[in-house]
Amino acid sequence: MAAQEQKIFAYETLAAVTKNFSDIHKLGEGGFGPVYKGKLNDGREIAVKKLSHTSNQGKKEFMNEARLLARVQHRNVVNLVGYCVHGNEKLLVYEYVAHESLDKLLFKSQKREKLDWKRRLGIITGVAKGLLYLHEDSHNCIIHRDIKASNILLDDKWTPKIADFGMARLFPEDQSQVNTRVAGTNGYMAPEYVMHGNLSVKADVFSYGVLVLELITGQRNSSFNLDVDAQNLLDWAYKMYKKGKSLEIVDSTLAATMVGEEVAMCIQLGLLCTQGDPQLRPTMRRVVVMLSRKPGQMQEPTRPGVPGSRYRRPRRHSALSSTVGTSGASDSHTSDSSNNYTTVTTSATGTSSATVETDPKGKRPMREG
Ligand SMILES: Nc1ncnc2c1ncn2[C@@H]1O[C@H](COP(=O)(O)OP(=O)(O)O)[C@@H](O)[C@H]1O
Ligand SMILES: [Mg+2]
Repeated sequence: MAAQEQKIFAYETLAAVTKNFSDIHKLGEGGFGPVYKGKLNDGREIAVKKLSHTSNQGKKEFMNEARLLARVQHRNVVNLVGYCVHGNEKLLVYEYVAHESLDKLLFKSQKREKLDWKRRLGIITGVAKGLLYLHEDSHNCIIHRDIKASNILLDDKWTPKIADFGMARLFPEDQSQVNTRVAGTNGYMAPEYVMHGNLSVKADVFSYGVLVLELITGQRNSSFNLDVDAQNLLDWAYKMYKKGKSLEIVDSTLAATMVGEEVAMCIQLGLLCTQGDPQLRPTMRRVVVMLSRKPGQMQEPTRPGVPGSRYRRPRRHSALSSTVGTSGASDSHTSDSSNNYTTVTTSATGTSSATVETDPKGKRPMREG
């Protein structure tokens, strides 16, 4: 009881420690609102996320969900230390993570060197364990829905911590409507989720695979332009892999520290996770097992899934077991290659067919409709 109450913060406290949510304290801003750094009287550093008024969730529901999320605890998941509701304002309070987010290091040439191969492999492994926990071991199956470099935070020992889990619960989609809004970030979303609103753990596996390939290449999938003949990073990685040249995609700053065998294994892993057919992608449990073994026998990846490209599903019509998801029309998934994806829409069924804005940083395309 007492422990739970401690998780509720007074608005005045949060306003005070962030100097009234001043720009100097701002760490960044994503689709859900700005994040500010602050220091509590007891010395703890925190990151306060001020949710923009986009959620129609009531106060009671928000408090319930936040309380549940505060119980989610794992070495590779950011700790939600508390929350606050103040009039229309809703705030989430997280532990502050020293090195902030992976994107701030990985995609900046001057800082990228800090991420040597050992650290990157540690990130690949840690994020896999954190996701496995969210999918299988937390009190409920939590599909993250927005795995990306800016949602991986690194602590002072370079341990990765997954941020922004549970947004799917705090921003529930209207279950009564067939039209499911797709919320995620360009470059990371699984094709079946973008096209059909099919949300399952395998959508997270896809985003994880993108992240793995970004860690290896130092390139953002959403703004990839190294090869004119490749549609994107995944396509390029797959092409090079097929030619037996997969090590040529490796970030040049890794040259001195990389272990070829491990890198090759991770490239193959990334490709297995980003396959077009969700059923072919491994579960996070499989991923963790693959990472814990000496590089050895792994399956052959098929072509990566890209919204805008065809992917051929295998002939067999086995039942789709992967839609454990919280939301979404778990449609029966037209099971052939007839989907010639061309336009990405923010709506699963296409009723509101706003095209996703492409942002070079791959920020969330979701806009409140
Ligand atoms: N707990 C935290 N500790 C340190 N930095 C954080 C924390 N949470 C968020 N940030 C920083 O704030 C930025 C904005 O976060 P967010 O609103 O989730 O947007 P996004 O994830 O789309 O970048 C992140 O990119 C990250 O650098
Ligand atoms: Mg975030």
